[in-house]
Amino acid sequence: MRRKLVAGNWKMHGGLAQNQALLEGILPGVKGLRTADCVVCAPFPYLAQVQALLKGTTVAWGAQNLSQHPSGAFTGEVSASMLRDFGCRYVIVGHSERRQLYGEDSATVARKFNAALDAGLTPIFCVGETLEQREAGATEKVVAEQLDAVTGLVGAAGLGRAVVAYEPVWAIGTGKTATPDQAQEVHAFIRKRIAESSADVAAGQQILYGGSVKGSNAKELFAMADIDGGLIGGASLKADEFVTICQAAAQ
Ligand code: PGA
Repeated sequence: MRRKLVAGNWKMHGGLAQNQALLEGILPGVKGLRTADCVVCAPFPYLAQVQALLKGTTVAWGAQNLSQHPSGAFTGEVSASMLRDFGCRYVIVGHSERRQLYGEDSATVARKFNAALDAGLTPIFCVGETLEQREAGATEKVVAEQLDAVTGLVGAAGLGRAVVAYEPVWAIGTGKTATPDQAQEVHAFIRKRIAESSADVAAGQQILYGGSVKGSNAKELFAMADIDGGLIGGASLKADEFVTICQAAAQ
């Protein structure tokens, strides 16, 4: 059976005081959870703080982006090995906000994915369609293209070392969650697509759902056969909401 994972994506939110209060609120609530894993993905400057607060706890931490390059003259960029220096286990790769606002195409996302794997990080690799693409009936085509760009570079075995997150762009930060059936349909498609390369990898692949997951809808989403947890934006900034979501994953 695949383990469930709940990953918080703080995006560009927080500060020293808020982060500490948030983590102190989360830790007691997730302490006893044995059957699900929790991770928070913090902005770069706070990774040292998060490491200090989470070391030795059951909550892992990660970053939200990384450079495709190992080092060099890339002003403003952060490499995978730098993330490792601060104990990161995970890094979000190819979030739709990176793709849409910072022009990251699928080839760049694949190189970032590869850089993360090379450093021993687990990519949380995001795929998903826009509303226009869904309405045009292109959801599977878009998601397949995003997946194939990564498997083309690292193979199915490489993908198997990552977590896939299906995040329909129209559901992110909009309060408009995909229904469990809508999400399940795409998750099943993703698993089937991976199975075309490797049935073993497909069977073990963790596939998270992201897009307006809250304490009140997590349970029904996580009950679906191919949904292995969630990537949580807004609700990961509220300790009680995030704890409720982690508890739903552990059921
Ligand atoms: P949301 O964001 O939960 O606020 O919709 C999810 C994400 O962007 O990862």
